[in-house]
Amino acid sequence: MEEAFWQDRWKKQQIGFHEAAPNPLLTAHFKALDIFAHAAVFVPLCGKTLDIDWLLACGHPVVGVEFHEAAIQEVFARLELVPEISEVAGLTRYHAGDLTLYCGDFFSLRRGHLPSVGAVFDRAALVAVAPAQRQAYVDHIRLLSDEAPILLVSFDYDPSLKAGPPFSVSGAEIDRLMRGIMTRGVLQSTPITSPPKAVGHGVEEVHLLRRQ
Ligand SMILES: C[S@@+](CC[C@H](N)C(=O)[O-])C[C@H]1O[C@@H](n2cnc3c(N)ncnc32)[C@H](O)[C@@H]1O
Repeated sequence: MEEAFWQDRWKKQQIGFHEAAPNPLLTAHFKALDIFAHAAVFVPLCGKTLDIDWLLACGHPVVGVEFHEAAIQEVFARLELVPEISEVAGLTRYHAGDLTLYCGDFFSLRRGHLPSVGAVFDRAALVAVAPAQRQAYVDHIRLLSDEAPILLVSFDYDPSLKAGPPFSVSGAEIDRLMRGIMTRGVLQSTPITSPPKAVGHGVEEVHLLRRQ
């Protein structure tokens, strides 16, 4: 979606996607990634998620990217971290300790902006991207993370029932987007209970993607 769409959502505080606690699917399934103790985790389209705090508390450096600067500032304030702020290729980089958050467009991030990434955690990110940008988004994730394993939370519902975001992204669509380069396993598939509840019969799924 366009940046203006998201800035407007933040301005109006229409942020039903934000959760008051670390995402339970992250905390339940993170171990399945089987990454090194201090491997960095990339959290694209991170908002101000408490998943960041949980990953840091587990000992993992975190890199994220988000359009909305106040969300980034809120994360640092919440963690009582005072960031160094610098401009990097059109993005604003906030950094303190094990946390680096870039303010700006995900598509402006370059491989060199990230450390070696052990895993990607994608919740409410792929499903937030407009369908026309989805392939570019996935290709860019793979490039930025050197095809590190991905823990991906998606929604699969009848798209005729609701206009996204969040968009419905089926397992078959994820396989197509991964171009056969990453294998996919479903760790959990449960009826949707969090937004967007309105879609009725959909499922929220946790996928583990690995380089073949
Ligand atoms: C649905 S929210 C999910 C946030 C977070 N992952 C969570 O679970 O709370 C999507 C976020 O991505 C941000 N966003 C969308 N497209 C972006 C882009 N191209 N670059 C940077 N941020 C983007 C939006 O501002 C919004 O905060």
